[in-house]
Amino acid sequence: MKDEAAQQGLLISPIKNGTVIDHITAGEALNVLKIIGITGTTHECLSVATNVKSRMMGKKDIVKIENRELMEEEVDRIALIAPNASINIIRNYKVFEKKGVRIPGLLVGVVRCPNPGCISNTNEPIQSRFEVAPNGLHCLYCDWVITKDITAHII
Ligand SMILES: Nc1ncnc2c1ncn2[C@@H]1O[C@H](COP(=O)(O)OP(=O)(O)OP(=O)(O)O)[C@@H](O)[C@H]1O
Ligand SMILES: [Mg+2]
Ligand SMILES: [Zn+2]
Repeated sequence: MKDEAAQQGLLISPIKNGTVIDHITAGEALNVLKIIGITGTTHECLSVATNVKSRMMGKKDIVKIENRELMEEEVDRIALIAPNASINIIRNYKVFEKKGVRIPGLLVGVVRCPNPGCISNTNEPIQSRFEVAPNGLHCLYCDWVITKDITAHII
């Protein structure tokens, strides 16, 4: 059986500059992209590998984004979906910086409140604000708590 690096090499060619999000929980790559705001209509040059064999995790997903270095706030959002993810900043083909992800305390404008009566769902120019609590995401406007399937609520 091919080793991990060789298998990845076949799937994805090296990038010169950008970000590699490695060790994503298997199956969550597209949700990771969604929570950092990358959709089918944005213009990043992306490679996505899902269910890659990993010695450490069994299976994992990997995302490579060319010519974009993720900001701290974006990196931490990833922790909500893939707490074991590692972020590798690539400069001139080499890993320039490697960092983990930390669950953020506050999410501003990231998820939509499921409560139709919430002020964040009106025409007021208000961004959603959720506190990340042990039992889920807590809306700071109406006290609604999102307890499961966070990804379904990403804006
Ligand atoms: N220039 C590059 N283009 C694309 N992917 C890269 C590049 N350099 C490294 N990577 C990928 O970034 C990740 C981290 O690279 P690194 O060389 O640190 O591997 P590693 O030693 O296995 O790291 P870790 O201990 O975090 O698993 C790997 O998935 C690797 O394939
Ligand atoms: Mg590795
Ligand atoms: Zn609310």
